Amino acid sequence: MHGKTLRKFPKKHVTCELTHHSIQSTAFFMYFFGNVTRFTMKITVIGAGNVGATAAQKIAYDELAHEVVLVDVIEDLPQGKSLDMFQAMPILGSDTRVIGTNTYEPTAGSDIVIMTAGLARKPGMSRDDLLFKNADIVQSCIERAYALSPNAFFIIVSNPLDVMTYVALKTTGLPRHKVIGMAGVLDTARYRTFIAMELGVSVEDITAFVLGGHGDTMVPLPRFTTVAGVPLAELMPQDRIDAIVKRTANGGAEIVSLLKTGSAYYAPSAAAVEMAECIIKDKRRILPCAVWLEGEYGLRDVVCGVPIILGKNGMERIFEIKLSADEQAALAKSADDVRSNIAKLTNV
Ligand code: 2OP
Repeated sequence: MHGKTLRKFPKKHVTCELTHHSIQSTAFFMYFFGNVTRFTMKITVIGAGNVGATAAQKIAYDELAHEVVLVDVIEDLPQGKSLDMFQAMPILGSDTRVIGTNTYEPTAGSDIVIMTAGLARKPGMSRDDLLFKNADIVQSCIERAYALSPNAFFIIVSNPLDVMTYVALKTTGLPRHKVIGMAGVLDTARYRTFIAMELGVSVEDITAFVLGGHGDTMVPLPRFTTVAGVPLAELMPQDRIDAIVKRTANGGAEIVSLLKTGSAYYAPSAAAVEMAECIIKDKRRILPCAVWLEGEYGLRDVVCGVPIILGKNGMERIFEIKLSADEQAALAKSADDVRSNIAKLTNV
């Protein structure tokens, strides 16, 4: 056809046959909405332990950013892991640069910061000890990262997750749509996996929500769980649903008891990266995340897991669904548990 020319865009998978005019408009579209925008992203992952390193690896493998910076206090650890990851890129076909560092300067100008650093509970250590120690760690890491990346979105993974999201909010003073905790995505993934295992169907066909804090009192919602659109209760007896709900709430502890020397990291890191991807690609997915509540679901002045729309502005809005009295009571109880831990921190 007259005036037609073959144009290859620099990114792979994009080959178009276009007129001059449509090349210009397509290039414009690609620049603002397509791969080009995505590829200029810079993501920092704080903490080069299993969760942080696996998150950085997934970001790089999926080429979600131009640069991923892995930062940790342990000398040489983030440098070693990131060099190893970077050396996998020629094989995997990704041009994401992976940088390891013990200082925050290389993190400057990040678009997204994923906070994973923190201690795991050791023998003889109470949950409260962990709470105070990790609050100090989160505060000091977030303070330094925020100073160099004031426009970033913060995704919080460190435990106890809901309280650490509160610490990050207070440390930065950022509005609530920019500081979001991860756990609902992880807890829902575990719940979906158990249902898929029980029914022998694809995990992809399970749609579900787990709300509340990331702890024993989290609130899986069987009434809103469907399998390819079919309500769960039509496919499974109540005692099996109850067993799956219980196993979900115990999901983290089950992995700890199997691993013996550590806690889960494949699913937690995948959950954090899914959230980052929603922001990067403006996907506007509805995901349960830990956010500061201002009256939604009848809860205020607490961080708690609720469904949100996640897009290019972080939390675009809270997605409110009408809960039954029992579901609402369970959510309020879970939020109270988070609130009492926040109170421990603020009352010292
Ligand atoms: C988990 O649930 C440790 O919070 C982490 O696996």
